[in-house]
Parts: sequence; C-alpha cells; structure tokens
Amino acid sequence: MTPSANSDMVFPHWNDKHGAVWGHQPVKLDHALHRLPLFTFEALADLIDHYPREHYSLIHMGGRGGRRFWREGDIAGMKGAEVIDWIRNGRMWLNLRNVNAVDRRYGALLDAAYQEVALRAPGAPMFDTKMGILISSPLAQVYYHADLPGQALWQIHGKKRLYVYPRSAPFLRPEDLENIALFGVEVDMPYHDWYDEFAQVFDLDAGDMAHWPLNAPHRVENLDCLNVSVTTEHWTRDIVRRHKVNVANGLLRTAIGHTPRSRAITGPGYWTKAAMQAVMRRTRWISRQRAQRREIAFRLDPQTRGGIIELGTPAE
Ligand SMILES: [Fe+2]
Repeated sequence: MTPSANSDMVFPHWNDKHGAVWGHQPVKLDHALHRLPLFTFEALADLIDHYPREHYSLIHMGGRGGRRFWREGDIAGMKGAEVIDWIRNGRMWLNLRNVNAVDRRYGALLDAAYQEVALRAPGAPMFDTKMGILISSPLAQVYYHADLPGQALWQIHGKKRLYVYPRSAPFLRPEDLENIALFGVEVDMPYHDWYDEFAQVFDLDAGDMAHWPLNAPHRVENLDCLNVSVTTEHWTRDIVRRHKVNVANGLLRTAIGHTPRSRAITGPGYWTKAAMQAVMRRTRWISRQRAQRREIAFRLDPQTRGGIIELGTPAE
C-alpha cells in the first residue's frame, strides 16, 4: 500500500476545494476505508478478542434528553462477537484506542491515509498520528466536547449526525482547553441546546469522513443503528506548542488562581510556560489528577444481552 499523488486509495473523490478548506472549515468528503477487510464485523470481533486492556475504553452514557452521564467499564473477558452484540443491544461505546500501535495492519493504513492527506493538503508536517475504532450503540451519543490534537472522523458502518460548533466563546473558552489538557476529561464543557443554532451539521454514512478546524467543539448522535467509526488524530509543531500553553495556563489558573492573558506560542512568555509545564509533568501532579478522575464503574453482564453490572467504588 504505497499511495502516490494520483492514488485514490483513501479519498476517491478528493478535489481542489477540499484541499483549500482543509483545516480551516468543517468539511465532509468520501473515503474508501469502509470497504477494507480490516473493518468487517468478523475482523473487528477478532481484534477485540486480542485487544490489550490498557488500550480500550468502554463507555456507558445517558440517553437523549435524560440525565447526562459518562462512565467507564470493562468487557470482562467476553468474546469480541458478543461484545459487538452487547453494544448493538445496549447504550455503550467501545473505543479501541491506539489500534495503529496494537495491530500494525491498522498502523499501515493510518500511515497511508495521512500520506495521502499530506499530498493533497500540503501544510506543516504531521506526526504522532493515532487511530481509534469506535463501536457504538444505536442512539448512542458523544457529548459536546473539544479535542486537543487535529482530528478526523471516518464513518465505517451505520449512520450518525455530527454537529460542529464555532471555536470561540461562548462555545469554546480558554479554560475549557486548559481543563482538557490538565485532566483529560473532555466532556465537562458547558453546553446549551441553543448552541445547535450555530452548528454545522453533517450526516455521516458509511464512506463519509469529516474533518474540522483544530479544537472546534463537536458532538455526535448515532441514528437508530449500530455504528462503527474510525477517529484519527495528529499533531504538528504548533499544535504541540498550543498544548503546552494550555497546560501551563491551566496550572496558573487552577493552582494559583491567576488568569492567564496570553496564549502565544512564540516568544519568551511561551518558553517560560513550556519549561513550567515540563517541570509539573515530571512531578506527576498532572497524571495523579487524571487517575483520580477515571474509575471503572461497570462491566458487561454475560447473562443479559446488552446488559451491564454495576461495580462498587473501587479501592484506591
Ligand atoms: Fe472528538
């Protein structure tokens, strides 16, 4: 799989319009990943069967219009085909994070996809790319949130609706990005129904891919069918610098109550913040904050299709 400038392996209908708006505007275009053998349900079941515990997240979330919650669980040794069946009959979301690192076939595909993007939308070099596979229940949703790296969403099976919001206040505030950078919890951002009046809405079918400007808040609603999607992320030098500023500004705001005035990613102020956040990372203050906010609250119930078993509060 060696893509060239003329390759249509990943994007069969990319045109100049897509290259011109890439990274600047939310955009939807078609892709060919959903036809690959790597994404049949049999292949996905086999992948789950061998997936390392530390690289997946199982999320249980609230229904539409009901109480909003988001908590993590465990597939508890169930077979991959059963896990997919439980998701089809429940209200869950399995994220096979880092699939590119876990299985090099997906890693090769990720590399090919980003090579093709780089050829078609030339810009700053992209690195530390990651791929995740999301298997999610009918009517499941991903709450309003923002991500720190560059992101794209590739629909493989099923249908979902993507809402992309402006990346300015009130939709996105500096403290929102700082909290994500410090605590790694993306879904605590304030959200009101009327935000949707300002969203761009994309209906994603199998074979559709969406990309949006860095940090743009978004949320996702599945239609009434099992969904399989791929998320990809990437970093550039400037995205890394923005992340360091978010960490440093978050520390200033959270730890000493100072409201940061600059988000510059060059100059002496930037380098002071880069050094400060590096020191705090070494003290492991940040990783301790994250650990306290991630607990396993449930596991799949092998007796009840789509069911879960609540777990008690785990020991520290
Ligand atoms: Fe996201």
